Amino acid sequence: MTIKRLPIIQRALVTGASGMLGSEIVSLLARKKDSLGISDILKHRHRPAEGFLSLDLKKRSDLKRLAEFDWDVVIHTAANRDPDSCADNPEEAEALNHQATAFLAETAAKRGAYMIYISTDYVFSGNNPPYTEESPTDPINIYGKTKLAGERALLAASPGHCALRVPFLYGIKAGIERAPMLYGSIKALKDASKDYFLDDVGVRYPTFTGDVADAVILLLEKRASGIYHCSGEDKMTKYSIAKLIGDILNLPSDHIKPLDKPAPTKAARPLDSHILTDKLKQLGWNTPPPFSERIENLLKG
Ligand SMILES: NC(=O)c1ccc[n+]([C@@H]2O[C@H](COP(=O)([O-])OP(=O)(O)OC[C@H]3O[C@@H](n4cnc5c(N)ncnc54)[C@H](OP(=O)(O)O)[C@@H]3O)[C@@H](O)[C@H]2O)c1
Repeated sequence: MTIKRLPIIQRALVTGASGMLGSEIVSLLARKKDSLGISDILKHRHRPAEGFLSLDLKKRSDLKRLAEFDWDVVIHTAANRDPDSCADNPEEAEALNHQATAFLAETAAKRGAYMIYISTDYVFSGNNPPYTEESPTDPINIYGKTKLAGERALLAASPGHCALRVPFLYGIKAGIERAPMLYGSIKALKDASKDYFLDDVGVRYPTFTGDVADAVILLLEKRASGIYHCSGEDKMTKYSIAKLIGDILNLPSDHIKPLDKPAPTKAARPLDSHILTDKLKQLGWNTPPPFSERIENLLKG
């Protein structure tokens, strides 16, 4: 009798590989390819570009094409992550954030592949922080609702899949224009011709994409299943973030003013959706350095 060996060489698919987070995950996967036993990384994005599988995951036909490729791990970051755009286009948000996730999760389950899905702290209303992985979910906008539906579909397709919830992200691997927190703050700081009023009420826990990529690799190595949280530890507001970046870059910031109520937006945002990370730390994820240190290294390094 011949014993069939399990393949140790794997093909990993990263959806949204051109995005702020996806680009960081691809970069770390490439560095750790050999130790992870990955032979090939398939990079997906929406818009056509060399080196990427360019597919619109809102379309069933494009999802089926993605399923035809040979992969046995999928890290699914592609999404519409803008709550206002999701409010304007609820059917498209449903198709991309929920239905595409469900399709990929079912495809992965059928072929015995492992899937990590990037979710969000916006599955919570922000009315009762802090939140553990077991806390009841209660999203208040279409974005949070469609991402939560994605989580449910993921785990219904296979309890062996994994959802990683992350909050407000920053990173520069995909270019600073793709990081609204950094780009928006620096743009406002450099334009001292007028006052900028920035939200000083809504609490954010800015999280570096490199720390999330570390968490993704850890989940992959451990084949962790179920829901995990990954978050930075510093409690900030958009106003305090801009002031801090001004200090670090030595830019005048007297024209950056605090707004003592949330800025009016199309979609409601949670005021404080703090997610706790104890479960991820127990798995071996290290507490990230302070936000100020990270920002200084990133912007000056
Ligand atoms: N950014 C945050 O602060 C934040 C916070 C919490 C959770 N998250 C979650 O983290 C994940 C990654 O977010 P991110 O900030 O890295 O996003 P991002 O920078 O906006 O990148 C989005 C990615 O999705 C692709 N994409 C957009 N529409 C698509 C479509 N119709 N079909 C296929 N692909 C499409 C984009 O491709 P193109 O580049 O070709 O357009 C890009 O690769 C998302 O799942 C998001 O929900 C993000």
